This record gives sequence, C-alpha cells and structure tokens, in this order.
Amino acid sequence: MNGHIAVNSARANFLPWDASGKVGDTQLARLKELCATLGDGPRIVVSHYPILMSNRKPEPRFHRLRDWKRVRDVAAECGVGLWLHGHKHAWYVLPAGENQPFASVCVGSATQRLRINPESSP
Ligand SMILES: [Fe+2]
Repeated sequence: MNGHIAVNSARANFLPWDASGKVGDTQLARLKELCATLGDGPRIVVSHYPILMSNRKPEPRFHRLRDWKRVRDVAAECGVGLWLHGHKHAWYVLPAGENQPFASVCVGSATQRLRINPESSP
C-alpha cells in the first residue's frame, strides 16, 4: 500500500468569521490504524489546513486547524515526511523543524495573483 494519506479537516462552523477546521478523535484513531498498515516508503499527507503558518506559528484560533497539535503528533508518529495543504492564499515551504517535525508545502490558491512576498498573505 502506498503512503499517500488524505485527511478530512472540514467541520461545520456557525459563525461567519470562523474558518477553522478539525480532524477529530475518530479520524485520528483511523489514521493511526492506517499508518500501522502502510509499508516502507515516503508518507505524504494531503489536507486543506496547514499545521503552521510560514512563521512556524499556529494560525489564529478562528482560522486554524483546531486540533493541530494532536494531528501533528499523530502524523509524526506515523512517520509522515511531507504535509501538502492549501487554506493560506500564498505559497510557502517549511522544512522540518520547530513545532513541526516534517516538511510542509502550501500550494497557495486559485485566487493568488503574482504575489511576491508570501508573508503578506491574508
Ligand atoms: Fe480554508
């Protein structure tokens, strides 16, 4: 079995300014089970939300993956080496390091237009 893992981070948000997501306990348990069945080789997660912003900090509460710490820890235990995501509207790359023991790539969004400085993203 290959190591490409899709994680659903959508949740119902009732406040119009709430853009947060959550993986949740049930899916995290399934992720642990899945990881135990994977063979050797790279393990890549694809999910909407990042673990961290480009400054290596979590996003503000109403924009973040609410259970990012638990998701990060399960992904690390799983041996994930790369986290691919969107959500932020400018691309950036984080190498493994502080607060995130695996690399991540934000692919930006379809609304991105020739933005040179990804730090200026909303
Ligand atoms: Fe989003």
